[in-house]
Amino acid sequence: MATPLKVAVLISGRGSNLQALIDAFGPQIADSPVKIALVLSNRPDAPGLDRAANAGLKTEIVDHKAFQSREDFDVAMDREIRAAGAAFVVMAGFMRLLTPQFVTAWKDKLVNIHPALLPAFPGLNTHRRALDAGVRFHGATVHFVRHETDSGPIIAQAAVPVLPDDDESTLAARVLQAEHKLYPLALRLIAQGNVRVEDDRAIVSDAPLADGVLFNPALTS
Ligand code: GRF
Repeated sequence: MATPLKVAVLISGRGSNLQALIDAFGPQIADSPVKIALVLSNRPDAPGLDRAANAGLKTEIVDHKAFQSREDFDVAMDREIRAAGAAFVVMAGFMRLLTPQFVTAWKDKLVNIHPALLPAFPGLNTHRRALDAGVRFHGATVHFVRHETDSGPIIAQAAVPVLPDDDESTLAARVLQAEHKLYPLALRLIAQGNVRVEDDRAIVSDAPLADGVLFNPALTS
């Protein structure tokens, strides 16, 4: 068994994606390709911290309110991540903008999950905007992080249909279910060495690829 990829997971809130990562790669999993070395929250009250503690994971709070500048906050976060021995950073509902210094220091070792099929709908309120735009598919994207918000080489995506009766909450729930499968899938591929970046695009090797065509409304004849 190869040495597992030691990751720090950054959270700000609920932590349902963190839970999916714990279920896939937590201490209870023998021979996991990923080891969660640290769960770091910028909010002391993030419910995700309880999920981490329940799983027996190391947690740290770096409260952004305690710092004068974004730079100081990111330096403190960087220090905790390195002190925990993590070599890779996973953002899972982490709601702070990162400084260019942090993004550069962790280039191609820093991933995010975004609740939309990027490059459509970067930023906030993606489900509302997808409904307003009338798209027939929506979804989630795991990508390496670059300086511009919600940009960077795309590693994996999951698409879900948008249904006529959807409101923001039904659509968000469908996307979130997909996220919980997508993030472990993407991280496993990275940990196994199946993802590389070339010309600022992520190339995935030795993984079964989706085939066929999705129609919504479905093709009936
Ligand atoms: C997810 O929808 C994720 O895509 C976005 O923030 C949300 C976090 O949810 N970046 P959780 O904290 O993982 O439950």
